[in-house]
Amino acid sequence: MDRYAVIGHPITHSLSPKIHTLFAEQTGETLEYEGIELPITSFETRVWQLFKDGYAGFNVTVPFKGDAFDFVDEMSERAKRARAVNTLMRLEDGRIYGDTTDGIGLIRDFTENLNWPIENQHILILGAGGAVRGVLDPLLEQNPASLVIANRTLKKVEELADDFPELTPCTFEELSGQFDIIINGTSASLSGQVPPLPPGLVNAGTKCYDMMYSKEPTAFMAWAKEQGAEHCADGLGMLVGQAAESFTIWRGVTPQTDSVIRDLRA
Ligand code: ATR
Repeated sequence: MDRYAVIGHPITHSLSPKIHTLFAEQTGETLEYEGIELPITSFETRVWQLFKDGYAGFNVTVPFKGDAFDFVDEMSERAKRARAVNTLMRLEDGRIYGDTTDGIGLIRDFTENLNWPIENQHILILGAGGAVRGVLDPLLEQNPASLVIANRTLKKVEELADDFPELTPCTFEELSGQFDIIINGTSASLSGQVPPLPPGLVNAGTKCYDMMYSKEPTAFMAWAKEQGAEHCADGLGMLVGQAAESFTIWRGVTPQTDSVIRDLRA
């Protein structure tokens, strides 16, 4: 039976084993999927060993997406632009292929689950780290009217805009006007914080999305509600969407995400 795993550090709270097991049940694919915690410093040797042990592929999560990028023999164009790999697969000739599915996971959540169109929308993204870089190409492919990207550190967001000239970079203080969609991609959410945003960015119709997920609404979602936003979502659908794309790469069948999202929420 083909074996897969999510590798990261820590891994105990990962939902990926449950998600992929539900996908396998849904599609009738026969596979095993588990979580494996790797020591921070030995990514390369450990992953080689796991492939030698017969694993067919891996999802890669924090903090190894950059290590996986350096590790692969071949990768997709989107992984090159994202400078990150979250999906590893052994090819028939033994070489290792890498891809990144986070961005497409976000798009799938917007288009298939939330029904939030992206085309012609004025979009604001908060943050300029690896998580944000990974979603820029797929977002731009959907032809938004504008894509403003705000970050605490101006230099970092300007560097990002050098690689993605369609972006308008700025700091949080420089933000003004209202947006159709605001996506929080900062890691502030992890510590329950919200970036220091000026008032007036949000109206009732502004859709606010946190790339992080948790059982309770995130601090960013609570902020958005306070500002009057009526449509808020966390990143659980993105997580399931990126998993579905990885599953498709490995197995050649695309699972439905909506029932899995419902199961996880329950
Ligand atoms: P990730 O892989 O999650 O994107 P990262 O590459 O370390 O992690 O990037 C973290 C992002 O969250 C950065 O944009 C960071 O802002 P800086 O570039 O100024 O460091 C942002 N961030 C982290 N904590 C934040 C906070 N408390 N308020 C605002 N932005 C924050």
